[in-house]
Amino acid sequence: MLQEVVATRYVTPLREGGSLPGIVEADDLGTYVMKFTGAGQGRKTLVAEVVCGELGRRLGLRVPELVAIELDPVIGLAEPDQEVQELLKASAGLNLGMDYLPGSLGFDPLAYEVDPAEAGRVVWFDALINNVDRSWRNPNMLVWHGDPWLIDHGATMIWHHNWPGAQASAAKPYNASDHVLAPFAPDIAAAAAALAPLVTEELLTEVVAQVPDVWLEGEPGFDTTDRLRRAYVEPLLARAGSIHERILMEAPAAPRPSQVPGWLTEHLTPWPHPTKKDRAARADTGRTSKDGDR
Ligand SMILES: Nc1ncnc2c1ncn2[C@@H]1O[C@H](COP(=O)(O)OP(=O)(O)O)[C@@H](O)[C@H]1O
Ligand SMILES: [Mg+2]
Repeated sequence: MLQEVVATRYVTPLREGGSLPGIVEADDLGTYVMKFTGAGQGRKTLVAEVVCGELGRRLGLRVPELVAIELDPVIGLAEPDQEVQELLKASAGLNLGMDYLPGSLGFDPLAYEVDPAEAGRVVWFDALINNVDRSWRNPNMLVWHGDPWLIDHGATMIWHHNWPGAQASAAKPYNASDHVLAPFAPDIAAAAAALAPLVTEELLTEVVAQVPDVWLEGEPGFDTTDRLRRAYVEPLLARAGSIHERILMEAPAAPRPSQVPGWLTEHLTPWPHPTKKDRAARADTGRTSKDGDR
């Protein structure tokens, strides 16, 4: 199971996402983005975060560390927002924590370039887990210390909302036309060749074993949580072998407007950030660049 920590302080709500996650501190002195069991999206969102986040990290993708956080709602007593109070009250017990990346910025495809190999790995992974939440509208990627990180795997594995149709649903194609990394010529074939052989029954079994039992108990149609864990392994295993043949990607449309102010964009380029000298040299040659000039 995930490492378990105890929340010691509710710091502040994060209002960028739809599920009102909060920043909390815990007894291991860590700071986490907490996703609540009592949120409207339900506990299956948390199961998806664990299965997909742990899988992604084991495939070599950057996913912040995940923990299970024990919450006593009393730590939020000083929080004035009624909505937050209700959420905390409904979430006593185990919740999900993702290591907080301080100073990270939302990924902007116009300000940050990803090479085709990495873009391919991310698109292939999102196809495997059927992630509908990594579009240019809502990238769910952060740039931290110059590298892109993957967050928010709650809206994945649509099949776990309808188990009888799970295997059939897992055979369906993945439309990556709106994927935030579609404009970077993702090398899907190379990603599939490198990653698909890693997605073994053993790896998936290890990944689903990370999910806390309490988020799996009482699922209709499953008499034990072990059976339910097993049900997550099969569709992912089946999909890994051939999903690269069913990734649809229409030609990218015109560049989308950047959502990041120009003065910030230079901080989004990979390390090392351009120095004043680099910028002066660029101005000299009159070259325009995607990075830092807007
Ligand atoms: N690990 C993290 N470190 C820093 N900021 C984060 C982290 N995880 C999420 N955030 C911020 O919180 C927002 C909402 O988180 P997200 O996981 O996308 O939740 P939602 O399910 O509500 O969309 C993100 O868009 C990002 O700005
Ligand atoms: Mg999100």
